[in-house]
Amino acid sequence: MDKLVINGGNPLSGCIEINGAKNAAVAIVPAAIMASKGTCTIDNIPDIEDVHCLERILESLGCNIIIGKNSVVIDSTSINNVNANTEDVRKMRASYYLIGALLGRFKKASVELPGGCPIGVRPIDQHIKGFEALGARVEIKHGCVTVEADRLIGTNIFFDVVTVGATINVMLAATLAEGVTTLENVAKEPHVVDVANFLNSMGANIKGAGTDIIRVVGVKELKGCSYSVIPDQIEAGTYMIAAAACGGEVTIENVIPKHLESISAKLIEIGAEVTENGDSITVKATGRLKGVNIKTQPYPGFPTDVQQPMSTLLTVAKGRSIINESIWESRLKHVDELKKMGANVKVEGRTAIIDGVDKLSGAVVKATDLRAGAAMVIAGLIAEGSTEVLSIEHIDRGYPNIEDKFKALGADIRRVSCSE
Ligand code: EPZ
Repeated sequence: MDKLVINGGNPLSGCIEINGAKNAAVAIVPAAIMASKGTCTIDNIPDIEDVHCLERILESLGCNIIIGKNSVVIDSTSINNVNANTEDVRKMRASYYLIGALLGRFKKASVELPGGCPIGVRPIDQHIKGFEALGARVEIKHGCVTVEADRLIGTNIFFDVVTVGATINVMLAATLAEGVTTLENVAKEPHVVDVANFLNSMGANIKGAGTDIIRVVGVKELKGCSYSVIPDQIEAGTYMIAAAACGGEVTIENVIPKHLESISAKLIEIGAEVTENGDSITVKATGRLKGVNIKTQPYPGFPTDVQQPMSTLLTVAKGRSIINESIWESRLKHVDELKKMGANVKVEGRTAIIDGVDKLSGAVVKATDLRAGAAMVIAGLIAEGSTEVLSIEHIDRGYPNIEDKFKALGADIRRVSCSE
C-alpha cells in the first residue's frame, strides 16, 4: 500500500491538463454493453481504478476489450453472461449501471449490490421504481439485485429525489424499451448529458438531457460508435481549489468552464481571481482568502464532490465559514483528519462550522473516502511541515496521477510505499 508524503508551503504555478470525467466514464463504459453490433471506441477515458474495475467486470461478462492509453475499445457482441457478481462489482458504486444496461439489452440481469465511498446511506429505491415502471420485476436477495422483464414499455416516471444514478440507470433501460419514456425531476449534471450523447451516438433517441425532463423514444437496437468523454468537472474543481488554497497562478486546461461556474463563483467570492479562456481556466490567488458559506446542491449548484476540498481551503480562510452538506449525510468525516492538522471546525449533523486559523501543521492523516483524500492532499500542500496521507487507494479510484500533476505545479509531493 502507498502513501503520499507532502512538504507543504509551496505556491502552485504552471499548467495542468484535466482528464476525462470519472462519473461520465463509469456510466459510459457499462453503457457500451448495450451495443449488439459493432464496437465502441471511447477516448478521453481517465486512467483510474474505478474504470479499470469496470473493464474487468465487462470482461467477466464476455466482452472483448482493448485498453489503450486513455482509451478503450469495447466489443460487447459476444456477451454470454448477465450475472455480475465479482469482487469488483461489490467494490464500486457505478457497477449499478450494469443493471440498467443489461436490462435494456437482455431484459434481465443479476448484479451484486454496489459499494463505493462511505459517505452515508446510498439507497437505490429510485432506480428500482424506474425499472418497475418500465415493466421489470425487481428482487433483492442475498445481496444481489435481480431484474427481469418480458417486455420493457415506455412510460412517465417522476423521480422523488434528484438523483444522478437513477436518472442514468433508468435512461439506459428506457433506451431499448418499446415506446416513449418521459423522465421528470431528473439530474442535470454534465455527466448525465454526456451519457445521453453517448447513447445517441449508438443510435438511441434521447432528448432533453441537461433539463428537468428527459424524453426517450425507445429504439430496437444500439450499435458501436466512437466517442470522447467530457473533461472532469470535479477533477478540475479540485485543482482550482488547490491553486487558490496554496496561492500562485495555475492554468487548468481541457475544461468546460460552463461546468465550473458554481465553483468559479465561490472562489471569486472567497477572494481568488478566476479567468476563463476557451477551454482553459486560470486561478490566481495572493494574500489571505476570506470565509464563505456553502450549501451543496445538484447541478448547477455547488457540487458535493468538491465540498471536502473546499472545506480544507476554508480552514485557513479569514473568519467563519459554514458548510451545509445537503446531498450526503456523512460527508464530513474528513473533518477529524483536518483537526489533527490544527483546523478549527465543529460539525453539527450535516453542517460544518469552520473558524479560519492562520495555518495548518503537517500530520499523519488518512483519506476517509475519495474526495476526502483530495481534501487531505490540499491540506498537506498548505500546511507547515510534512504531511503523510494514508489510505490513498481511495484517491487512486478517481484522480489520475495526482502526485505528478501537483509536482508539475511546483508542489513537494511524492508517493512512497507504506513499508518504506
Ligand atoms: C453520483 O452518485 C456520483 N457518483 C457521486 O460522486 C456524487 O456525489 C453524486 O452523484 C451526487 O452528485 C457517481 O456518479 C458514480 P445520487 P449517485 O443518486 O448517483 C439520494 C464521487 O465523489 N437517492 O445523485 O450514487 C441519495 O441518498 C462520487 O465521485 C435516493 O434517495 O448519487 C442522495 O442523497 C461520490 N434514492 C441523493 O439522492 C436513490 O435511489 C443523490 O444521490 C438514489 C439516490
